[in-house]
Amino acid sequence: MSATSVSATSVSVPPVEFEHRRTPLFGRDLLSLRDLSPDEMSAVLVLADGMKKDPVKFSTALRAKTLAMVFEKPSLRTRVSFDVGMTQLGGHALDLSPEISLGKRESLHDVAKNLERMVDAIMVRTYGHEGLVRLAEFAGIPVINGLTDYSHPCQGLADYMTMREVKGDLRGLRVAYLGDGNNVCHSLIFGAALTGAHFVAATPAGYEPAQDALAWAREAGMRTGARIDATTDPDEAARDADVVYTDVWASMGQEAEADARHRIFLPFQVNARLFGLARRDAMFMHCLPAHRGSEVTDDVIDSPRSVVFQQAENRLHAQKALLFSLMR
Ligand code: CP
Ligand code: NVA
Repeated sequence: MSATSVSATSVSVPPVEFEHRRTPLFGRDLLSLRDLSPDEMSAVLVLADGMKKDPVKFSTALRAKTLAMVFEKPSLRTRVSFDVGMTQLGGHALDLSPEISLGKRESLHDVAKNLERMVDAIMVRTYGHEGLVRLAEFAGIPVINGLTDYSHPCQGLADYMTMREVKGDLRGLRVAYLGDGNNVCHSLIFGAALTGAHFVAATPAGYEPAQDALAWAREAGMRTGARIDATTDPDEAARDADVVYTDVWASMGQEAEADARHRIFLPFQVNARLFGLARRDAMFMHCLPAHRGSEVTDDVIDSPRSVVFQQAENRLHAQKALLFSLMR
């Protein structure tokens, strides 16, 4: 029996005392990484590193707090990492899926006004980004984007945490993204602007990142030294990259386009030839789920330089840091 074990008259492990001062992000939403300043993003990543090293220290941090989760699309990593994350922080996650279908059974307004009376934050995975923004406007509690068609900020946090773990300083790090210029790509673009990385997206013509995402990142990047490029040439992007990143070619909701997209995206497949253009110590990243044999071949995703499961684990740590920051 350890020195901290329970006896009839004593409490086992004394709860860690957290400062009563609110965190700077308390009460805020995270709808996009654009909601963060460079210093705020850095603070979340530093806290995430600390939580990964010493999870026990934070095991009562969100005691008696509840996160409501709404999933309108499937999920493995997001669902598990938020649920386990709340448990590890001493709180509780309540999965409302599939009962809640936002705006169908009752209005977004009424969903928000009900939930804010009973829970402490809401995490939503949905299609249109605008619906999430409206929900956040109605809700007086933090709303977290668990993926929309436009962005995936929690993935971006975990991804830059992972790059920092492996590569150290993010400033000037050459991050090449190959594939569809949509949600995950946008969050990587915003993260690059906040951290000073050199980001290049290679997409087929017609699948480029949104102009507003590029414009915001180029403007924000002037203050951090970031560089944001876009090309339709996969080789140009991969050449001398420190990080090669890809995502599925047909995202959730686009399944009917899968065959047509396969033909269009094939030149952007991350295979041994394309990965071979990157630096010898380049890392391979993928948000997962992966369609092996499509956007990435087995030899790349299973290679020692692939960090896809480290990325997946870091969803847990990065989101715990986020939950703590928004809810404490
Ligand atoms: N990367 C990611 O968000 O995974 P899930 O779709 O499984 O949540
Ligand atoms: N772009 C993918 C990301 C999944 C995590 C999708 O939206 O399906």
